[in-house]
Amino acid sequence: MKLFLAPIQGMTTACYRNAFARHFGNIDAYYTPFIGTSEIKKVSQSLLKDILPENNDPMVKLVPQLLGNDGIQFKSFARIISDMGYKEINWNVGCPFPMVTKKKKGSGILLYPDMVNKFLDQACSDSSYKITVKMRLGFDDTEAGIRVMQVLNQYPLGGVIIHARTGIQMYSGHVDLDGFEALTALCKHEVTYNGDIFNYDNFLNTSARFPAIENFMLGRGALIDPFLPSKIKGNIISPDNKISIIRQFHDEIFNYYRSILSGEKHLCDKMKEFWNYMIINMDKDGKFAKKIKKCSHSSEYLALINQIFQHNLEWEI
Ligand SMILES: Cc1cc2nc3c(=O)[nH]c(=O)nc-3n(C[C@H](O)[C@H](O)[C@H](O)COP(=O)(O)O)c2cc1C
Repeated sequence: MKLFLAPIQGMTTACYRNAFARHFGNIDAYYTPFIGTSEIKKVSQSLLKDILPENNDPMVKLVPQLLGNDGIQFKSFARIISDMGYKEINWNVGCPFPMVTKKKKGSGILLYPDMVNKFLDQACSDSSYKITVKMRLGFDDTEAGIRVMQVLNQYPLGGVIIHARTGIQMYSGHVDLDGFEALTALCKHEVTYNGDIFNYDNFLNTSARFPAIENFMLGRGALIDPFLPSKIKGNIISPDNKISIIRQFHDEIFNYYRSILSGEKHLCDKMKEFWNYMIINMDKDGKFAKKIKKCSHSSEYLALINQIFQHNLEWEI
């Protein structure tokens, strides 16, 4: 069984992935947040910063993700990325945000199987990389996903990751396991399940329902409980060590952002994103969440973080 860390824009950046791998591990591959494709002359070091080998731990298997609907542009970007040593490139056809979907990108392209066909004709014509696809069940219903899957079956893809929601669901409502089953039954490629695995029971129930699925991608669940991958893999970490591991992980990310961001508020705002996830298990009585939101200076922030860690002497999950 393989576990992958899902891309979460703004969160699972190189610094986060490197620290996650070092402190928690048990992830077989880390998918990067998407990079939007465009004209090749717009490719720059800063656009590719998050995937540059010098910013990524060489022991961490990384899969760069691209978002776009132009196969020629994808191919040009993918070629540059494969020259950096990455042989799997992931195509995002799942992003649900209207400013993306209105341009027939992300999950928006799922309504246009002919565009998917043309895109893959162009993008798959270079054998220096393998394309994997991260998709949703469809844009507004699973019928669209089924039509797209028939197209995906015609190409030599490295696999398909299915987030078991439609695009218009965004991140709300429930995953549709019947829809996932329908798409998986049709798919000729290796399938990875993705969606709403927040705890060990969610994993057990999903894997019991789909015994043939061997790959699972964890997103928010792993950000809320970074020990979840080790639990799923059966690698037990002593409960006595867990809270100090979380503290080291936090400090590493905080120090990184302190070194690159200018402005106290900017730094606090960045760390609030981290706490959007981590607070869920560390603030069960709701004492700290509002205080974090109000922080605008690092001294105030660090004093509060110290209180949170003093309040949580153990990682209680
Ligand atoms: C804030 C946020 C940003 C995301 N950014 C990306 C992204 O850049 N690329 C992508 O393929 N999916 C992205 N996703 C979707 C996740 O990778 C994942 O498919 C989704 O959260 C469902 O999995 P989960 O329930 O395990 O979190 C994002 C999700 C969230 C909540």
